[in-house]
Amino acid sequence: MLEMINVDVTLDGDSGDNGQVQVLKNINLTLENKKIYVMTGPNGGGKSSIAKAIMGIYHPTKGKILLDGKDITDKGISERAQLGVGYAFQQPPRFKGLKVKELLKLAAGSNDVNQCDLLYDVGLCAQDYLERDINSSFSGGELKRIEIASILARNLKIAVFDEPEAGIDLWSFQRLSETFENMNEKYDTTIVIISHQERILRLADQVILVANGEISEITSKQKILKDIERLDSECLCKEDCNRGGRVNVECSR
Ligand SMILES: Nc1ncnc2c1ncn2[C@@H]1O[C@H](COP(=O)(O)OP(=O)(O)O)[C@@H](O)[C@H]1O
Ligand SMILES: [Mg+2]
Repeated sequence: MLEMINVDVTLDGDSGDNGQVQVLKNINLTLENKKIYVMTGPNGGGKSSIAKAIMGIYHPTKGKILLDGKDITDKGISERAQLGVGYAFQQPPRFKGLKVKELLKLAAGSNDVNQCDLLYDVGLCAQDYLERDINSSFSGGELKRIEIASILARNLKIAVFDEPEAGIDLWSFQRLSETFENMNEKYDTTIVIISHQERILRLADQVILVANGEISEITSKQKILKDIERLDSECLCKEDCNRGGRVNVECSR
């Protein structure tokens, strides 16, 4: 179980007091073992920052992070990785100079994994990819799926996937959703998926809504799915435009 208790994160940025920007405010979150959480909310709301705080990329300026009751607030990325915490970036790095099979081998370490299965689980055909060098010939969606496969290979305690749907085709998306669905059983992992997709929201044991650097609500998927239906029928963005004085802006919904 991972707990974030009253976590604030302030970073050096271009705006705010003394050039600092507070990206997270008083985050309280408990991630229970083997559950699926979907984190959603507007762009710039703080979802990736929560993921980075979990991974030890951003460090709390206030509050604590506990893993199975142990304080890991001051632990860095590699220590957290060793403890079984992993993060698939919204924009993954390119791991230059590695073949796909080498990356998966490195990720798996001593875990006994079948590389073909891993690639199939993310919607990639193994024989087309295993021998390929990871370089700029990969599309964003391919790169994301290879990174996700490397996270699956690690057999983690807690895995965070940041907008895994970005840049992938419908068939692969379907396969990936099924993989997340099966992951608890197959890999025994607590999963956090940052996503805006209804198909992913349907997998959630709980949905975490993040906006303005705060968790605004932790709720059920049923409630969120109802809200989505409501948003489809009423045009809330038009209301927002009108309130902002931009009365002539057409609603895009
Ligand atoms: N390293 C950083 N430096 C400055 N500002 C940042 C940094 N990381 C995130 N932010 C700011 O924090 C806010 C939340 O960003 P992010 O967590 O990426 O949102 P989301 O993933 O929900 O779209 C944004 O306003 C973003 O500009
Ligand atoms: Mg993000």
